[in-house]
Parts: sequence; C-alpha cells; structure tokens
Amino acid sequence: MTEIAITRTANPKTPPADDTLAFGKVFTDHMFLLNYDEGKGWHSPRIEPYGPFTLDPACCVLHYGQAIFDGLKAFRGVDGQIRLFRLADHARRVNRSGHFLCIPEIDPAMIEESIRALVEVDQRWVPHKPGTSLYIRPTVIATETFLGVHPSHSYLYYVIVGPVGAYYKEGMNPVRILATEKYVRAVQGGMGAAKTAGNYAASLFGAEEAQKQGYTQVLWLDGVHHKYLDEVGTMNIMLKIGDEVLTPPLNGAILAGITRDSVLTLLRDWGLKVAERPISIDEVLDAAKAGTLEMWGTGTAAVISPVGELGYKGERYVINGGKTGELTQKLYDTIVGIQYGTLPDKYGWTRPLGNRLGG
Ligand code: COI
Repeated sequence: MTEIAITRTANPKTPPADDTLAFGKVFTDHMFLLNYDEGKGWHSPRIEPYGPFTLDPACCVLHYGQAIFDGLKAFRGVDGQIRLFRLADHARRVNRSGHFLCIPEIDPAMIEESIRALVEVDQRWVPHKPGTSLYIRPTVIATETFLGVHPSHSYLYYVIVGPVGAYYKEGMNPVRILATEKYVRAVQGGMGAAKTAGNYAASLFGAEEAQKQGYTQVLWLDGVHHKYLDEVGTMNIMLKIGDEVLTPPLNGAILAGITRDSVLTLLRDWGLKVAERPISIDEVLDAAKAGTLEMWGTGTAAVISPVGELGYKGERYVINGGKTGELTQKLYDTIVGIQYGTLPDKYGWTRPLGNRLGG
C-alpha cells in the first residue's frame, strides 16, 4: 500500500468544550485525500490541513449527484484508549455504496488506513465526555468537468472528522416520528441501499413537513404499497411486539446499517426471537394501541434512539407510555459499553488506535 504523505497544519485550532458539542458542526485540523484518474487508478494518498476545495462549476457531482459517503465513530474509552467502531465493515460499505454509483472500488485496506491515520493525526480532538465521540465522514465525489450523463472518469475520496455529541436534540430521550404515505424515499431496484447524497436529498421535503407537525423524523414506508416500514433515513427501525423483535429485511430499498447489524447480533446472542421480515404499518399501530409495542432506531449517528410517538394519517400513537423501553435501554447500554471499553468486546468490533492493519 502506498505511504500516506502527511502535511501538518501550521495553525492548529482549539477543540471546543465537550459539553458544547452538537452533531456535524465542528471539524478538526486535517483531512485525508485520495485521487482517482482513469488509467492511473487511485493515487496520491495524503493528509493535509483541513480546508475548502476548488471545484469547476461544471464538475459532474454538482449536477448529477455521483457521490457516496459513510459515517463511523472513534470513542475515547474510560481507560483513555481510542477505539474505532466496526472500521472494516464501514470500509466495505464505502465500496458497496460506490458500486451502485459506478464509482471504482478503493482498496479496503487503504480506506481503513486513511481513517486510522487521520484519527491518529487528530487524536487530541477525540472528546472525553460520555456520549461524545469523533464522527468520521469518508466521502467520494465525481470530479470530471463535463455535462454529459455518464460515470465520471475522475474522483476524489476524502475523509473529514469532527467531535460530536448527540445527533437528535432529544439526546437519549424518545423521539417522535411520522409515518408518511404521501412521499417515498426509495424503491427496490433503486439506490436505497447506497449511502448516496440523492437518498438524503429525497428525504428533505417530507422531513420538513414532519417537523412542522412536531415530529423529529419521517418513518419511510415502502415505495410500492406505502404500507411496509422501510427506514427512518438517519437510522434503521426496529420494534418489539410481545416477545419478538422485528426489523425490515435488507430488501434493496434500505441501508444495511452497521448498528442494525450489531443490535441483531446482540439480540440473537441474548436468545431473543428476532425476525427480519416485512412489517406493515397496521401491525405496528395495532401493537401501539394494545400497549405491546416498543420501538427504537439504530444508526451510527443516532446510536440507539427510542421512539416515543408515532404519527400516521393525522393520528398520534404514544409508544410505551412515551418512555424509553427496557430492551432499548439495554441495547444502548451494551453498544455504548463496548464502544467506550466498559464492557468486553467479544465480537471484535473495536479497533484500538495504534493498531495498524495486520498489527
Ligand atoms: C450516520 O449514522 O452515520 C449517518 O450517516 C446518518 C446521517 C447523519 C446522515
């Protein structure tokens, strides 16, 4: 693997106080960059001072959205050790997303090393307070200057990182979500399983309407029947009805969430009944009315986020008395415990900083 060239900033900034951290507003001193040119492949890995790019106004990503990203986190444990959570899985997902958008594959070892090296350079930015972390955003954009619609012949892969607190202003308090039958996020056969800019653009209009009605997020229903749960856009959705945990299957329209996978692994390990199957909104509403429903979202940014209220067709359904459910809390405590090193990592999900690949 080519060595990463490192140029350190001459003007290091002061990281903000941990208790002022929100999500995605502050970035560190450095960024990682890697270019692709047809005939040359991916080349010139480097870490440089964080700063703006210059892009030609005809650059194709600005017109046709050929772009993908991912999101993962580094945690400063109670023992002072910094741990990257599920690094290899996120690196694989960068390429899976890229595949949908005709973006040439990047050596997964280079993706892992780009992230490890950048976090090492900016490690003083990893916050200390429980609930905070360093959010890592690997991104690929198409950079060719042209207005014809075809895959670009050049790309930029870059990684930026920044200290974050909770994604939702509610923190670990239950959020309200609105199931909409009016708009759709993605359909099977489309790009719903890719972490691509367009999926998030598609979610904005519906989300604005939901927010005007007092909801935090939209619960997207399937694009064909407008009946089956898909995902929330910023997180996958899970629920417990009676003694069974349910989550929508990876049907091509939803993101294969890595926190979703961690949670399913834990639940199966704990011996719970788990099904990945289509879940109709009617089934969920019946369980909400019967008081047998617990619901939560899973995501890197959102972690485990309890759902306290569900809106649908003008009605509001309170879930679990609007409180965080017992299983939701247990999942949160376990995932967070592994991330911060207070619980053993028997699944090998964390990579301590300082461990190079193969080392
Ligand atoms: C994440 O959980 O990392 C996400 O990418 C969700 C969102 C902030 C876009």
